[in-house]
Amino acid sequence: MWFNASVQIGALQLKSNLFLSPLAGYTNLPFRLTLREIGGLDLATTDLVNARSLLEKNPKALKLIETCPADRPLAVQLFGSVPEEMRDAAVYLQSLGISSVDINMGCPVRKVCRIGGGAAMMTEWDKSARLVRGMVEAVRIPVTAKMRLGWDDASLTAPDLARVLEDAGVAAIFVHGRTREQGFSGTVNLAGIRAVAQSVRRIPVIGNGDVTTPQAAKKMFDETGCAGVSIGRGAFYQPWIFQQTGHFLRTGELLPEPGFEERVAVMQRHLGWMTQVFGETHACRMFRKVGPWYAKRFGPANEFNKRIVKLSSVAEFHEILEAYRRWRMQFLDGDGQLKANYRPPPLVASFMQEPAVALRDHIPVPRGPVDVW
Ligand SMILES: Cc1cc2nc3c(=O)[nH]c(=O)nc-3n(C[C@H](O)[C@H](O)[C@H](O)COP(=O)(O)O)c2cc1C
Repeated sequence: MWFNASVQIGALQLKSNLFLSPLAGYTNLPFRLTLREIGGLDLATTDLVNARSLLEKNPKALKLIETCPADRPLAVQLFGSVPEEMRDAAVYLQSLGISSVDINMGCPVRKVCRIGGGAAMMTEWDKSARLVRGMVEAVRIPVTAKMRLGWDDASLTAPDLARVLEDAGVAAIFVHGRTREQGFSGTVNLAGIRAVAQSVRRIPVIGNGDVTTPQAAKKMFDETGCAGVSIGRGAFYQPWIFQQTGHFLRTGELLPEPGFEERVAVMQRHLGWMTQVFGETHACRMFRKVGPWYAKRFGPANEFNKRIVKLSSVAEFHEILEAYRRWRMQFLDGDGQLKANYRPPPLVASFMQEPAVALRDHIPVPRGPVDVW
């Protein structure tokens, strides 16, 4: 079995080889606490944070790194290209007790690939390596990097970049198995992730992309030789995914998908944490985009969605839920289960489907600056 309780990132000994991927706008303290309570997750990552804003103590940046003792171990993902700012931000995060710093490497290769690589690419990599080295030398906590496979299929630069960054001192590489050109479409390229895993000498490579089920995580481990799997959108669909995948990897047994009431309980807990962290008004406004993710596994949910996107108080949330429960009854059988034709189809990762099906069934992508993801 693949479950390896001793994944190590620098000096950080982790209890799980499953990771939470940064999802800007979503992977905040309330979501992380919700996932941690369910279990199976150890190292989680914040949304990306601009290093300069952090050094300027910008209130929004400080809110992005808000954490608490139950939210450990925690990585903060930094974004920036000025080496001194990235270094100082890492030092600041270490002083706050953050467990590791992840660098958003979406950008370093972009300019280079646009102008065709070659010598310019090496210059850019030198620059990235210097930036990483400056951070690594300044802190004791691990510094990791998150990247895509490359700009496009003709330029799968991640294996070489990973090696350069390993030499510069990064403690792990997180790689989303798609190119920048792909955005979030098409299939995750497991062979591409494997090439990255094989290119480094000592550090763990964590695979990422489209893992929505325990079987998909296992396939990613099996076919890429990665040391860990990082999950983003799958955690929206299935906040249980870490716990269930851990169980599957250890025992080979698939636990049943949680039912409607269990989903509702977790959703309520999530809103509860959001209210504590952001205050009721702001939490409810933010929950307008969170609620519909839970609803994707409810079966028919129009009645829920059309009201939740206007949510303004916790009392209203309970009203919406009660009205939805009544409305949803028409889709239930005598045992209180969704009738077969209303059940959401099983989740299947892109790399476990025929390409044409993968194209049709791709996981929705919330709005945002895809460019930096
Ligand atoms: C809404 C959203 C926000 C994201 N924000 C970030 C981010 O802040 N930093 C980052 O490195 N990747 C970001 N990503 C990319 C994810 O971390 C991940 O690499 C990608 O979604 C593929 O994994 P998944 O299929 O498990 O979601 C984001 C993706 C989405 C959909």
